[in-house]
Amino acid sequence: MNANEATLVWVDEYSRMAEAYDKNVAPRFEPIAQEVVRLVDPKPGELFLDVGTGTGLLACQIAPRVLPQGVVAIDLADGAISVASYRAGNAGIRNIRFEMLDSRNIVYHGKLFDAAVSNLGIPALGYDRVFQEVHRVLKPSGRFVFSEWPTDPNPSFAALRELLEKHGTRSPSKDLALVREAVRLVRTDPEAKALGDPRAVLKALGVAGFEKRDATTKTFPVRFTSVAELVVFAGSYGWYERELREMTIESRKTFDEELAIRLKPLTTSAGIEDTWTLNLFVARSE
Ligand SMILES: C[S@@+](CC[C@H](N)C(=O)[O-])C[C@H]1O[C@@H](n2cnc3c(N)ncnc32)[C@H](O)[C@@H]1O
Repeated sequence: MNANEATLVWVDEYSRMAEAYDKNVAPRFEPIAQEVVRLVDPKPGELFLDVGTGTGLLACQIAPRVLPQGVVAIDLADGAISVASYRAGNAGIRNIRFEMLDSRNIVYHGKLFDAAVSNLGIPALGYDRVFQEVHRVLKPSGRFVFSEWPTDPNPSFAALRELLEKHGTRSPSKDLALVREAVRLVRTDPEAKALGDPRAVLKALGVAGFEKRDATTKTFPVRFTSVAELVVFAGSYGWYERELREMTIESRKTFDEELAIRLKPLTTSAGIEDTWTLNLFVARSE
């Protein structure tokens, strides 16, 4: 599997899981998206680009603030785009144009946007090309603000991943085998892994032409009322969903037991209390 094939498998999973993602994942990402909005500080009349919009969380936060202009929100996952359109429609937002586009090839004129944003939507495979494309479509001195996960997963996710790998089926379906291969590529490819390293990201932003660039780290407290709720959250991502579905009944039982043990240090009377650490980037070309 090459990087392009892996990207398509990855994105198909976002399409397939779009409704579950919107229900169980996106609400938990709201505070992170709000931080992106705070840093980019949208102004009335500005034209924005949202990269990897998914189900439109960030685009919908920005759109009301840039009226009478709007947001172009791009994603390769058509399923996510249609959920995003519902989200915007339900909120009465009409100034977002959702487009099914690869962020490594943003088919828009150069020097068009006042600002570009992304909430956890920069693809690990080919992010250097994304930065070049974003730089190309931004007006001179346009700003680019985005959030990304660090290379090391937060504690609850580390436990989930480890146990899924340990208890996952030995005879995966063809689809699960493909998704496993794509996940392996993203997690082991040194270039893809570097998206979690602020120094590598700042360097790539510089190469893309962003003269001013800054990285900060922020922590976000997150609470799941139970282990089951955490599993529902994780199971709204394609890879986790397939692993959980194809696990044998015995393996699933052991998985649940071991997960509860692993999460003990994070467990309080209110549930699982984790801390997500995120990297936030602000870049500008002069
Ligand atoms: C973790 S989701 C983030 C979605 C949204 N920004 C949010 O905050 O909920 C990542 C999104 O990036 C999209 N994506 C991944 N690779 C892409 C690419 N090469 N071009 C466009 N979108 C891509 C996926 O389809 C997915 O919707």
